[in-house]
Amino acid sequence: MHLLLLASLSSLALALATVPTYHAQPFLDASNTAFGSLIEGAAVDRHGNFYAVNYNGSKAAVGQAYPCQSLLFADLHRSSSWFNAVRFSVDKHGVQEAYLGDVANHRVVRLRDPGGKAQFMHSEVLCQSPDFLQPNDLAIAHSTGRVFLSGMRFTADSVVGDGDLWTCDSAGTATKLGSFYRTNGIEVSPDEKTLYLSEAINKNDSVVSNVIHAFDLDAKKGSISNARVLVDFAKLDDSAANDVDGMRTDSQGNLYVTRWGAAKIAKISPTGELLAYIALANIVQVTNLEFAGPNGSDLFAVGACTDNSAKGCIDKYSTSAQGHAFIVQQH
Ligand SMILES: *[C@@H]1O[C@H](CO)[C@@H](O)[C@H](O)[C@H]1NC(C)=O
Ligand SMILES: *[C@@H]1O[C@H](CO)[C@@H](O)[C@H](O)[C@H]1NC(C)=O
Ligand SMILES: *[C@@H]1O[C@H](CO)[C@@H](O)[C@H](O)[C@H]1NC(C)=O
Repeated sequence: MHLLLLASLSSLALALATVPTYHAQPFLDASNTAFGSLIEGAAVDRHGNFYAVNYNGSKAAVGQAYPCQSLLFADLHRSSSWFNAVRFSVDKHGVQEAYLGDVANHRVVRLRDPGGKAQFMHSEVLCQSPDFLQPNDLAIAHSTGRVFLSGMRFTADSVVGDGDLWTCDSAGTATKLGSFYRTNGIEVSPDEKTLYLSEAINKNDSVVSNVIHAFDLDAKKGSISNARVLVDFAKLDDSAANDVDGMRTDSQGNLYVTRWGAAKIAKISPTGELLAYIALANIVQVTNLEFAGPNGSDLFAVGACTDNSAKGCIDKYSTSAQGHAFIVQQH
């Protein structure tokens, strides 16, 4: 028993020793950021511009962070809005859209820029339900405009129902796909055949489990099947106590996963292998990430600044990989 345990522990240590760590650089720090501590909702538009939420002191405001800081959208009609998630898409007429997840009002807001001038004057509620736990984060199947929503309720002892998964079609019809322990990170694979969803469990006020589920996805119908655990962080790298927050894929389908509280991102292959870590510079509690920049190959990660928890920091890691969300909007 002891020998077996030792053998499995040392093989994990051996496997981890060969995983490379790359280093992100500060992009916006506490001295120059216009984002607050609730920075989240990392997103990229068709031009490679990078956005996040909690801009200019408001939970109801989304700001551009790259190439320069400016306001994208502030909900002037509903000051209670609390945007936590953002995704951009291009509709079948070539119009740039943005989807915002509002955790406070349990809805997804769609912005449109028909003039192509990055003036998102037109906003509408895509879908809304008091039965949505939040949404916390969003993913999108670009071919159909179908949006997927994850929600979570943080309790001392997690129960099934503290997490949920919903989908809204492009006409706004909402359908519940499942109840879980706390769900958070959500992503659709580049071929739109797989949906990824993270799930965490608390026991006695401690985080004891973090996994990523994979499901076969029918992006048209919005149905999922064949649930399996792609990654169990207890087995992958002994990090079950670090929450998964935002997740995004590159154009090859590798998953980039925030490891909240661990100051790093894990790069994971479509088959669940740990490929690399990206260590962050100014952020420990990393909430989300996205590829942006002129070629969609700069990975931006966001979270409260380590040296000033009232401010939202952004770190950047330039790579040869390009983000799926950027590439898919070029077509
Ligand atoms: C930031 O918010 C203040 C009001 O709180 C407003 O006067 C100012 O124009 C805003 N700045 C930007 C860049 O949105
Ligand atoms: C729960 O946590 C508290 C504080 O850490 C500890 O005193 C208590 O023994 C724990 N209870 C159980 C059932 O583990
Ligand atoms: C973008 O990609 C092009 C062609 O692959 C390359 O020539 C250029 O240097 C890249 N630019 C940046 C900023 O990475």
